[in-house]
Amino acid sequence: MPSQSPNRVPSRLHELSPEEQSVYRQLDPTKIPQHVAIIMDGNGRWAGKRALKRFLGHQQGAESVQYVVETASRIDLPFLTLYAFSLENNLRRPKAEVSFLMKLLKSYLIGNVKRMNDNNVRMAYIGRTHDLPTEVQETMQWAMESTAKNTGTTLTLALNYGARSEIVDAVRKILTGLTADAHARGCSIEDLLGAGALDALDESSIGRALYTAHMPDPDLIVRTSGEQRISNFLLWQIAYAEIFVTDRLWPDFRGIHLLEALADYQRRDRRYGGLNDTHSDEKIDTLQSVSELESEIATELTPPHELTRR
Ligand code: FPP
Repeated sequence: MPSQSPNRVPSRLHELSPEEQSVYRQLDPTKIPQHVAIIMDGNGRWAGKRALKRFLGHQQGAESVQYVVETASRIDLPFLTLYAFSLENNLRRPKAEVSFLMKLLKSYLIGNVKRMNDNNVRMAYIGRTHDLPTEVQETMQWAMESTAKNTGTTLTLALNYGARSEIVDAVRKILTGLTADAHARGCSIEDLLGAGALDALDESSIGRALYTAHMPDPDLIVRTSGEQRISNFLLWQIAYAEIFVTDRLWPDFRGIHLLEALADYQRRDRRYGGLNDTHSDEKIDTLQSVSELESEIATELTPPHELTRR
């Protein structure tokens, strides 16, 4: 994982546009998230509004990808993950659209690897990429290897990706490992489970079996085009992510809109199921003892029979 010091001022802020700089100045640089994931939606609607063919919306969407990646790299965002092609897109879209998206991906990679290197961006992928056309896989591999030494933003493209199938793949991986282990030790899977393998299966071991094992969970998930759904994206990993939905269609989304999403994110109160700092202090001040609290509750709570009588 690239190491990022939260207190280091990003060295390329001067490359932001003046408008981006003015939004960036509102941000707390120590609270830039580690990982932002984006559901890029609305390419078709963007084209439809202009009476253009859908594929032109996708083409314009690919332009947005590069703008957003470069802004992310200028502010030293450690991880950016983009939902570029879902398993469902692959299965349910017309063949011609799928084939166009594959060609677009290939030409996007070929056309942008130099810019990725200029921006110190490292490329990675998640999804059942082995089911994509061979020539697309070869270009993906080439782009990943060509950017592997970069130490800035890791750009992960989710391709032929579905979160439920990611979990299925993780379970298969764990079971395959267990079978191999039993085989190597000359014992049964039941023996291994009895000897502690079951207890060893926890949230961390499942996390390590997911495609995203090498990155932190997203702090923020952005969805464009106003749809308020997750669409089978990173279901396990976004358990505590903040969600930001914008009506803007993906082809109109730019770096400045990413920065605006970060400003909104920084106004959120992330509690992970606990209490915020103010209330934690209040709890310490007021809870002298559990029995004191119990008697306080007993006197303050209206008995249920009182409630029904009123
Ligand atoms: C949703 O638009 C978006 C997609 C199907 C995939 C995202 C693809 C791109 C942004 C272009 C290529 C990406 C790369 C990385 C080169 P939609 O067609 O579902 O829009 P609609 O809901 O308005 O019809």
